[in-house]
Amino acid sequence: TQPLRVLSGIQPTAGSFHLGNYLGAVRQWVALQETHDAFYAVVDMHAITIPQDPEQLRQSTRLAAAQLLGAGLDPSRCALFVQSHVPEHAQLAWVMNCLTGFGEASRMTQFKDKSARQGTEGTTVGLFTYPVLQAADILIYNAHEVPVGEDQRQHIELTRDLAERFNGRYGPTFTVPGAYILKDAAKIYDLQDPSIKMSKSASSPKGIVWLMDEPKASAKKFRSAVTDTGTEIRFDREAKPGLSNLLTIYSALTGISVPELEEKFTGQLYGPLKTELAEVFAHWVAPFRARTLEYLNDPAELDRILADGAAKAREVAAATLAEVYDKVGF
Ligand code: ADP
Ligand code: NA
Repeated sequence: TQPLRVLSGIQPTAGSFHLGNYLGAVRQWVALQETHDAFYAVVDMHAITIPQDPEQLRQSTRLAAAQLLGAGLDPSRCALFVQSHVPEHAQLAWVMNCLTGFGEASRMTQFKDKSARQGTEGTTVGLFTYPVLQAADILIYNAHEVPVGEDQRQHIELTRDLAERFNGRYGPTFTVPGAYILKDAAKIYDLQDPSIKMSKSASSPKGIVWLMDEPKASAKKFRSAVTDTGTEIRFDREAKPGLSNLLTIYSALTGISVPELEEKFTGQLYGPLKTELAEVFAHWVAPFRARTLEYLNDPAELDRILADGAAKAREVAAATLAEVYDKVGF
């Protein structure tokens, strides 16, 4: 039997991925390439829905791809490509725009949040139709499953509605995808304010761990992470959110379960746990950084990998688009 197909995308960001991106998404992508027919895109077209600097976007896109490779994506086990290199995404998005109700798009809560931040004049139509492009990203590959975080559920629902609407109007065409809510995905919180998630837009500089930072700088952030004033090392999201976050990270990076960690640190204070976690992180991140830097320092090889990935993606995408164009009357 054919493996199920998955599609997932990640936006290029200036700087680098943070630990939340890795433990919440990228790590699962690496695992899924073994069991699934996996398509992974650096979604640079989504990145211009808010103002961008062209040179910075170009660099961020390459950095994102290099980091995905550094994290363990293997171009022989998945298709890794840049969204704008596969023009069929935009072409299908237009068809999907013409199937999407204005009211339907207006109900997307992420748009409401993001547009509130941009203001009416700063909000582009691209930001408004972002979920439609996302639907096209998924449907163009007839993906069965879309590995996403909980916050993307509404967009996957829209994608399913659009697939069903198209199929209903023009005959069976698209696979109706399901959300694949990541199982071992850890939600990582800000190291200085564990009431918010670690996030490039909301975290303070000391609360967020960037994967490409000097490991020494990150070690310091772990050592100065905010915890409660107690002494007992116990996982308790309500009473000990900071400590629980550190235990989650420790567990995710080592594979040692949280109960085992509680056992291991019985009778110890928070200090030694933080110091050990800083070491665990440094040990984990060193090979990731080295591999990522290798790809960044070999632009020709990175270009070759991304060109191959785009070719693999286009093979599928072009076939889908041809069928769609035919059905709508082009
Ligand atoms: P940010 O919240 O920093 O802007 P993005 O929204 O670009 O990050 O998220 C990219 C991917 O990383 C998404 O799949 C998202 O679910 C995941 N992710 C982001 N932050 C976290 C976090 N703190 N914990 C777990 N996963 C996260
Ligand atoms: Na695969």
